[in-house]
Amino acid sequence: MALKLKNNVSWIGKTDWDIKKFHGDEYSTHRGSTYNSYLIKEEKNVLIDTVWKPFAKEYVENLKKEIDLNNIDFIIMNHAEIDHSGSLPELMSYIPDTPVYCTENAVKSLKGHYHQNWNFRTVKTGDELDLGNGKKLVFVEMKMLHWPDSMACYLTEDNILFSNDAFGQHYASEYMFNDLVDQAELFAECIKYYANILTPFSLLANKKIKEILSLKLQIDMIAPGHGVIWRDNPTQIVEKYMDWANLYQENQITIIYDTMWDGTKRMAEAIAEGIKQSDNNVNIKLYNAAKTDKNDIVTEVFKSKCILAGSPTINNGILVSIAGILEIIKGLKFKNKKAAAFGCYGWSGESVPVLTETLDKAGFLVIDDGLKAIWNPDNDSIKKCMVFGEKIVKTFI
Ligand code: FEO
Repeated sequence: MALKLKNNVSWIGKTDWDIKKFHGDEYSTHRGSTYNSYLIKEEKNVLIDTVWKPFAKEYVENLKKEIDLNNIDFIIMNHAEIDHSGSLPELMSYIPDTPVYCTENAVKSLKGHYHQNWNFRTVKTGDELDLGNGKKLVFVEMKMLHWPDSMACYLTEDNILFSNDAFGQHYASEYMFNDLVDQAELFAECIKYYANILTPFSLLANKKIKEILSLKLQIDMIAPGHGVIWRDNPTQIVEKYMDWANLYQENQITIIYDTMWDGTKRMAEAIAEGIKQSDNNVNIKLYNAAKTDKNDIVTEVFKSKCILAGSPTINNGILVSIAGILEIIKGLKFKNKKAAAFGCYGWSGESVPVLTETLDKAGFLVIDDGLKAIWNPDNDSIKKCMVFGEKIVKTFI
């Protein structure tokens, strides 16, 4: 049901406690999500974004309880992706002539998804929509944050920034406001969201945030497209984004491996031991890629200054879980991070060169040719792993 944000602005979205996978199987949502839609009732009535398609009928029925649909003057689509636009066809079946304000790219995308020629009105940065009562919506294009069609809008007088995907989190909560929820959970979801969705666009994010800050808008609330609304110190999440967009790293080394008969696992543990003996302050994390959520691994890579990737050799290559996670990591275009490879082998031993080449192509600075161990590592091999760990820390980090 509707939740009042401020004055005549309400949330009219959907809290989805059930969803555990988003974007198909691409993003894990351990804590569910929300699809946020907002209703502003001034002299003109405005609806900002809708919710994901499976909830379209429920959403429109709830909306009808808040407003006669015929009294909606404008619909704003900040972003055309299905989780925000999925209920638009259901809504437009009732009010087909209502103007839909969005970017030029969003028109392409909405037409591409729904094959409808709705009453589109394209907007650019700085365009305004008068809502009466002395209030207006100001549009800000957010190109590539995270789609070419993304935009945000700002409600004057109430000083609310409707930011869509930016500053959001996949985090279901009936509280719906940032000051009411568990802060550790909230920020864990925020950094996971940034790492997995926004990392490739960090340069643009940095620039766009500076542009928004230079407008010197009073921001009393940030109302994103997913998760809780920032009403307590709302710009704290903007400051976090500035940090994360600026070659973010912590004092962390993450070891990602897969193993067949535990040889590469023993190597991983011995390398970690070597690192620890050499530098007790560095945070070392080990993940078996076949057993760990891929998005959680990506979040740890995001926090790391160096990653070590390990796989035994199979069919002249590497295990599928490592190949998969490295494909995701490559796509995210991490910068300013170091890497090296390791792995067991029995016959030909290609895994380490394959991993090394993959890490290099993914944009990591490869700091060592890598470490191989034949068959099941013996005491001498385990010692070499520890020395490898020490060397990584002492020489390169
Ligand atoms: Fe880019 Fe929440 O969709």
